[in-house]
Amino acid sequence: MKILGRFKGKLGEIAIWESERTGDRLYREGEIFQSESSATGESRLPYVKMMEVFLGDAKNVLLLGCGGGNLATMLVRSGKNVTVVDHSPISFDLAKRFFGMPKEISCFVADFREYLAAETRSFDGIAVDVGGPGFCYEEQFNPSTCHSITARLSRGGRIILNMLVATDFDAAPDLIASDLSEDHLSSWIFDRPGLLNRNALLACLPKGRRTANKHYMAKFSRTTDELWTLRRPRRPSHHSQAVVVEIA
Ligand SMILES: C[S@@+](CC[C@H](N)C(=O)[O-])C[C@H]1O[C@@H](n2cnc3c(N)ncnc32)[C@H](O)[C@@H]1O
Repeated sequence: MKILGRFKGKLGEIAIWESERTGDRLYREGEIFQSESSATGESRLPYVKMMEVFLGDAKNVLLLGCGGGNLATMLVRSGKNVTVVDHSPISFDLAKRFFGMPKEISCFVADFREYLAAETRSFDGIAVDVGGPGFCYEEQFNPSTCHSITARLSRGGRIILNMLVATDFDAAPDLIASDLSEDHLSSWIFDRPGLLNRNALLACLPKGRRTANKHYMAKFSRTTDELWTLRRPRRPSHHSQAVVVEIA
């Protein structure tokens, strides 16, 4: 591996690495690898490819989180109109310079929650892939943020959110998937139980289309490998309750 450049990121130093054997490129921020792709921006990460497939039917996509811009690049190349948001302005320059992200993509520099509070347009696909050093999913995706994501979804649209799951005892995917469901969306969790610090995908489709959704999710599941399992979220409570135990 050789380093093509080092830059100041929002959450730590960003280094762009290149494999001398394959030509693949990696975007590392602090200790976290944010993107990994061919030099032309085709992601090597299964979860990014899954997000692309899930958004197959969308035409107008809001993408929260740029990194190396691989998902944005893949979506634009398949004919979609894409808006990308990232709080790190340099991510857009690096995505274009090192990962082939097309110049015509509309890019917004903003914290994703502030962007959502100000945006008034609707999108028929929303992809959320924000994260990095010190990022806490449960805090960032609280019920009000989940509501501001679903508020930007047009009728009949779909949402896919990537998150890191520490262990099988991490309640965050279930909490966030439940909060994203609201009255008009059904949600699912794609996960790889048993692995530590793994990616999991939370997927939402319109409620009340049981058969269509079943077919959509079945088709989507066939694009994944056998380590990924699909389940509905459990509904844990956000509020921990004090339990008094009497010891005789
Ligand atoms: C995993 S990368 C996205 C990778 C991208 N999906 C791809 O395919 O290459 C996560 C991105 O989220 C951004 N990010 C982290 N916290 C954020 C926040 N609060 N608001 C906006 N962007 C944020 C980081 O700067 C980073 O570029």
